[in-house]
Amino acid sequence: MLIAGNWKMNTTLPEATALAEDLAAYVHEHADALAATHMAVCPPFVNLEATARALADTDVAVGGQTMHTADAGSYTGETSAPMLRAAGCTYVIVGHSERRKYFGETDADVGAKVAQAHAHSLIPIVCVGETKAQRDAGDAEAIVEQQVRGALAEAQGAAPTDLVVAYEPVWAIGTGDSATPEQAQAMHAFIRSLLHDLVGDGAADVHLLYGGSMKPHNAEALLSQPDVDGGLIGGASLQADSFGAIAQIGAAQAA
Ligand code: 13P
Repeated sequence: MLIAGNWKMNTTLPEATALAEDLAAYVHEHADALAATHMAVCPPFVNLEATARALADTDVAVGGQTMHTADAGSYTGETSAPMLRAAGCTYVIVGHSERRKYFGETDADVGAKVAQAHAHSLIPIVCVGETKAQRDAGDAEAIVEQQVRGALAEAQGAAPTDLVVAYEPVWAIGTGDSATPEQAQAMHAFIRSLLHDLVGDGAADVHLLYGGSMKPHNAEALLSQPDVDGGLIGGASLQADSFGAIAQIGAAQAA
């Protein structure tokens, strides 16, 4: 079980530091209840180092929210995999639907980022998911298949534990309108079957996260599905209590 928080473009440096300190206090206080789950948070780049420092005496990992595919160079405004590593990152989110929508990220870009993450020992959290119009048209599985195949195009031979896939239906993100547990399970089972094709028997060991309006009140129903191995949490990760509560629910499912 992996419960990861995507802080998106939220938190100034003092706010990120306070949130990370709250989270550190929460995980210390609830250490037993959280023992069976992994946790990670992905703050804005500028707050990575402070967040990693505040969480240094916990098992909560830190990740980036995106990354460039070059190691270094003339790419104004971009952040590289070596920079993420040096700032203390274990993970990097790639292909979030907001990156695809607002910054034009393609399936080929996502595939290149997965390869770059692996080249620098970062675990990519690959986001896939259909829009409402695509679901209504009956195209959800076809879209997700194209995204998964694109993301893993250059990832042959990667260890399953070095890969995380997050199913985030675009219509469920930030809307309060989460997928039903049945919808999530059906798509996760489909993704698992694709992974069997792409990474072989190790597919069972790939963490498949659900993301999209996961909150403490709906987390148990989602996280108890057999192919839901965790959550990628947006809004509810911005408070230690709600994020911690979801992680405790995940830990109870994993125990
Ligand atoms: P919300 O939990 O706010 O819907 O965001 C989900 C998400 O996009 C995580 O990456």
